[in-house]
Amino acid sequence: MSEKGKVNWDNAIPSRKAKVAILGLGYVGLPLALAFAEQGFLCYGIDPDRERIQQLNAGKSYINDLPAAELKARIKSRQLIATSDFSKLADADAILVCVPTPLSKSKDPDFSFVMNAADAIAPRLKLGQLIIIESTIYPGMTVELIGPRLEEKSGLKAGRDFYLAMSPERIDPGNQKYTLKNTPKVVGGIDPASTRLSALLYQQIIARVIPVSSPTVAEMTKLLENTFRQINIGLVNEIAIICDKLGINALEVIDAASTKPFGFMTFYPGPGTGGHCIPVDPIYLSWKMKSLNYRARFIELATEVNAQMPEFWVNKLRDQLNRKNKSLHNAKIILLGVSYKKDINDLRESPALEILKLLLEQGAKVQYCDPYIPKLDLGGKIFRSVKLTPALLRKSDCVMIATDHSGFDYRMIKSQAKLIVDTRGVYHRLKLGA
Ligand SMILES: NC(=O)c1ccc[n+]([C@@H]2O[C@H](COP(=O)([O-])OP(=O)(O)OC[C@H]3O[C@@H](n4cnc5c(N)ncnc54)[C@H](O)[C@@H]3O)[C@@H](O)[C@H]2O)c1
Repeated sequence: MSEKGKVNWDNAIPSRKAKVAILGLGYVGLPLALAFAEQGFLCYGIDPDRERIQQLNAGKSYINDLPAAELKARIKSRQLIATSDFSKLADADAILVCVPTPLSKSKDPDFSFVMNAADAIAPRLKLGQLIIIESTIYPGMTVELIGPRLEEKSGLKAGRDFYLAMSPERIDPGNQKYTLKNTPKVVGGIDPASTRLSALLYQQIIARVIPVSSPTVAEMTKLLENTFRQINIGLVNEIAIICDKLGINALEVIDAASTKPFGFMTFYPGPGTGGHCIPVDPIYLSWKMKSLNYRARFIELATEVNAQMPEFWVNKLRDQLNRKNKSLHNAKIILLGVSYKKDINDLRESPALEILKLLLEQGAKVQYCDPYIPKLDLGGKIFRSVKLTPALLRKSDCVMIATDHSGFDYRMIKSQAKLIVDTRGVYHRLKLGA
C-alpha cells in the first residue's frame, strides 16, 4: 500500500496529532492507553464494561500496580477518554485491540472477543487507519481470520486501504523492574508499511521495538515465550514430585543447580499455573497444531503436570495432618493468598481456587486471607478474606501458602501456626526454615 491514506503518519505520529483508540481496558489495554496519553496522544479507551468505565471516569484504577494519580490526571485533562461508545473508533487513526482471549468451557480457544472487536471496527474502518492486534492469538489468526473479517465487513482491503499488524503484549502485571516502557515490543505487519508504521507508533512509548517479517511470526513469538514458561514450570513441578518421592528437598536441588553459570535457567515449583496467559496461551498453539494434524506433546504434558499440582499439595497437607493424628476432614485451614501470583489482584485460572475446591470437597473448614482479593465466589459460594491474626493462626490446624504476597508477615505466621504447607517455597527463600 502506498502510505497515502488520509493520515500523514510520518507527521502525525511524532507530532502527536495521531489519535489512538485502545479496545479493551484490562491488564493490557489500560496501561497501554495511559502510556499513549502520557506521551501526548489523544487516546480513547473503549470498553463495553460500563462499571469499569465509571470507575475510570471517577479517577479510580482497578489495576493495582497502575499509578492511580497519573491515571486520574490524564482522565481529568481528557487526554485519556474512557468510554463504552464504540463510535469513537471512527475518530481514531490507530486502533489497538487488547480484548480477552480465554478458553471456552470445553477448554478450546474462545475467539469471540477478538472477532467481536473486529466486527466493531469494520463498519467504522477508514482509509489509512492502522489496526494492531495485541491480544494473544494463534499463529496465523491475523491473516486467516481477522484481516478477512475486517475486509468483508468494511469493503476495504488490508494492505491497500488500511494497515494491519500484530504486536503481542508482554506486560507482566506487578513487575516493577520490567514495565511496558522498558520491555521490548515485537511487531509484524501484513506488509512492510504496516510493520514500519506500527513500529514508529510504539517507539513513542516503548524504548525498543523489534520488527519481524509477518503477523504470524509475531503471534508465534508470544506463544513460544509463554509455552517456554509453561513447559519449564511443568518440568520443575515434576522435579518437585520426583524429589518428594526421593525424600529430598527440591528447592535445595534447584538452588544447587542454579549455581551453574551456563546452560541452566532457574524455575521454581508451585501450586500450578494461573493467570490469563501461561495456562491458556499454549492451548491456542496446540489447538492450531491439531488442525494441522500435529500433536504438541510437550504442551499437553506440561498442562497435565501443572494441573495436578493442587492435588499434590492437598495430599501433602493431608499427610502432614495425618502425622499429627489429625484428619483433613473438619481440619481448620487458612489458605494464604488466592490471586494467581504475588502482589496482584488477578484471580483468573488461579491454582489456589482448585486447592480451595479440593480442600472443601474433603471436608476441611477453610478460610482464606488475601489483601488483594477481599471477596471471592467459588461456584456460587461467597468467601471473604479474613484478617490474619496470631489468635486465628493459633486456632487453626494448618496454614497453606498458595500465593506468596510480599505483605504477609512470614515470621509471625511461623511463630504462631501449628503447621505450614508452603507451596511457594517462601520459607526456604527467606531462610526461615520450612
Ligand atoms: N494479563 C496479562 O498479564 C497479559 C499479558 C500479555 C498479554 N495478555 C493478553 O492480552 C489480552 C487481554 O488480556 P487482559 O489480561 O488485559 O484481559 P482483561 O480481561 O483484563 O481485559 C480485557 C478487557 O476487554 C474488554 N472487552 C471485552 N470485549 C470487548 C470488545 N469487544 N471491545 C472492547 N473491549 C472489550 C473487557 O471488558 C475487559 O475490560 C489477552 O489476549 C491476553 O492473553 C495478557
